[in-house]
Amino acid sequence: MKYMGSKSRFAKDLLPILLKDRENDQYYVEPFAGGMNMMDKVSGNRIANDAHQELMAMWCALIYDNWNPPSFVSEALYLDMRDNPEAFKSYERGYVGFNSYAGKWFAGYRRDKEGKRDYWREHYNNIKRQIPFLKGVELRNQSYLELDIPENSIIYCDPPYEATTSYRSGFDHVKFWEWCREKSKEGHQVFISEYRAPGDFYCVWERDAKSTFSYNGTSGGTKESKERLFVYQP
Ligand SMILES: C[S@@+](CC[C@H](N)C(=O)[O-])C[C@H]1O[C@@H](n2cnc3c(N)ncnc32)[C@H](O)[C@@H]1O
Repeated sequence: MKYMGSKSRFAKDLLPILLKDRENDQYYVEPFAGGMNMMDKVSGNRIANDAHQELMAMWCALIYDNWNPPSFVSEALYLDMRDNPEAFKSYERGYVGFNSYAGKWFAGYRRDKEGKRDYWREHYNNIKRQIPFLKGVELRNQSYLELDIPENSIIYCDPPYEATTSYRSGFDHVKFWEWCREKSKEGHQVFISEYRAPGDFYCVWERDAKSTFSYNGTSGGTKESKERLFVYQP
């Protein structure tokens, strides 16, 4: 699924590192699962959490209620769903709201000016392709801070990046790094995707990445950046 901050293009590099020492039955946990673009490439015991209510309602309907989403949504309906949330089901809004500019929640109806691309068909196909690989994933919809994590899990964190998060989003990065320290000390293997980390975190992988994220909350443009993976190492 096209999703803001998707890690699909890094999955083949990251997963061998994350899963290197995985034992049978060991849980793989994503507190910030988003578009499930990592989760759909992992098998076995898994927990996918995300704080976004409509997003997780959508995954639940698709994976467990066999909901068949629409393969086309008109702009009028898209706008109605954006502006009148109470008139629609959460899972429908989840599906429609994320088929937006840059995979960002209701960030604008996607339309190909040359008429060559059918964005709704792409969205439909991408999601339908993921579903068989997500059967059996335990879904949660809460803040990562409240997430109950089985002992000795592999935790992969892909939070909203500090450089791309606006102050208004309310994501507390200091608290987040503190939570990563705590989880590591509890015995979990914790991995974090970010551009930068505090000094007691060690970079185990990096790659140049052209980011199309917005910087300081303003959108547009691309910016050179290094995609990194960190572990806690005091
Ligand atoms: C960079 S995206 C994850 C993308 C995902 N790894 C993928 O490849 O599709 C970050 C996610 O964190 C979620 N999020 C933001 N604050 C959160 C919180 N406090 N607890 C849990 N999830 C949160 C957002 O809803 C978003 O889906």
